[in-house]
Amino acid sequence: MPDPQTASPRQNEDLPMRTLMQTGPVRRAPTGRRARLAACVAAALALAGCRQDMHDQAKIEPYEESDFFADGVGGARIPPAHTLPRGTNWDDVAFTSGYHPDGTMVAELPLELTPELLDRGEERYNIFCSPCHARTGAGNGMIVERGFAQPPSYHEQRLREMPLGYFFDVASNGYGLMSGYKAQIKAADRWAIAAWIRVLQRSRNAPIDVLSPEERQQVIAAGASAARPADEPARQAASGDENENQDDGRAAAGREVGAL
Ligand code: HEC
Repeated sequence: MPDPQTASPRQNEDLPMRTLMQTGPVRRAPTGRRARLAACVAAALALAGCRQDMHDQAKIEPYEESDFFADGVGGARIPPAHTLPRGTNWDDVAFTSGYHPDGTMVAELPLELTPELLDRGEERYNIFCSPCHARTGAGNGMIVERGFAQPPSYHEQRLREMPLGYFFDVASNGYGLMSGYKAQIKAADRWAIAAWIRVLQRSRNAPIDVLSPEERQQVIAAGASAARPADEPARQAASGDENENQDDGRAAAGREVGAL
């Protein structure tokens, strides 16, 4: 009788089948056979993965043409105007998109303006935006110093005139070379950042009549003794409509220029 450790079950013909099924060592196939079996299973699995149906299904690849639409554009269709992405809060489109349902940009902060909100905006801005835009908003952050494209200064007249929703929109979706941050920064914080950008803008371009008479005196005194940053000509502070308060500003600016 062959050695039960190595013999195939078939060779144990004098043993009843039941006994063969129950005796552990005899039931194990020899190594060579097991390897062949394993190879067959592997091949069957591999071949099962070779079905092309899912790969070849009818679909339009990005940028592929299509005769389904009259203009022949298939894979890169422009979404209809004011299309909003999945995940938009439909109860408050203005808050999540920065645009009113009629497509105009939101101009007012859709949150209560509190010192806490501005603190949060300052903190988030300094984390996410200042590496490029600088803490002052002048656009010369550390990444720019190291060679990244320079963003425009927030103190440009064009950006001063942009509605608040514009800053929310750029923070969300990016602009030109700048990528969007809506995956990293939640909507409420993007609004807080937009509000903080306004603070930065105001810090260099506030009409003097928003100050109390004492504060005005302080500013005028400080302006007469301190040099302005080089990128901000003193004249800019005085541009605007003719009125008494603007004249105050002009007088202050004039004194500054005299002091420089
Ligand atoms: C990695 C650098 C970088 C970071 C970080 C960055 N930006 Fe920018 N940003 C740019 C560059 C570069 C431009 C100019 C892009 C262009 O003109 O192609 C720009 C432009 C802008 C503009 C002006 C758009 C216009 O109309 O000219 C705004 C507003 C702005 N960014 C807001 C933000 C806010 C808010 C954040 C933070 C949430 C932020 N950026 C973070 C690089 C950055």
